[in-house]
Amino acid sequence: MPRVCVTRRVHFSAAHRLHRSEWSEERNREVFGDCANVNWHGHNYELDVTVEGEVDPETGYVLDLKLLKRLVERSVVDDLDHRNLNLDVPWLEEKNPTTENLVVAIWDRLVSRMPEGLELKRLVLFETPRNSVEYEGR
Ligand code: NI
Repeated sequence: MPRVCVTRRVHFSAAHRLHRSEWSEERNREVFGDCANVNWHGHNYELDVTVEGEVDPETGYVLDLKLLKRLVERSVVDDLDHRNLNLDVPWLEEKNPTTENLVVAIWDRLVSRMPEGLELKRLVLFETPRNSVEYEGR
């Protein structure tokens, strides 16, 4: 059976602030730039979720992408959309919500929820149209 990767893109908007509390305002501003802004700011995130599996000979699908969309929404997007990533999301507690930390936390939630026979292959998380991070679980 051929194994094929399929990708669903989902969207969420969220507020955050990047900082380390043990650092001075100046140091935080120096390292994290505008993302250190004390009174928060938002991003329109795009998340590409790629899973790999065998093509079902009956349907011709790896899986119904509507199911993947629902799984991703229930597992992560519902918790993140229109929330403050520093304050509102229990599974991000104690994490500086950089795009890198966020993509790893999203991976950890999705990987254990994959339907049988499907492998989570790759996540690409866009914080802006020009800035993205990729994670393959390593
Ligand atoms: Ni930011």
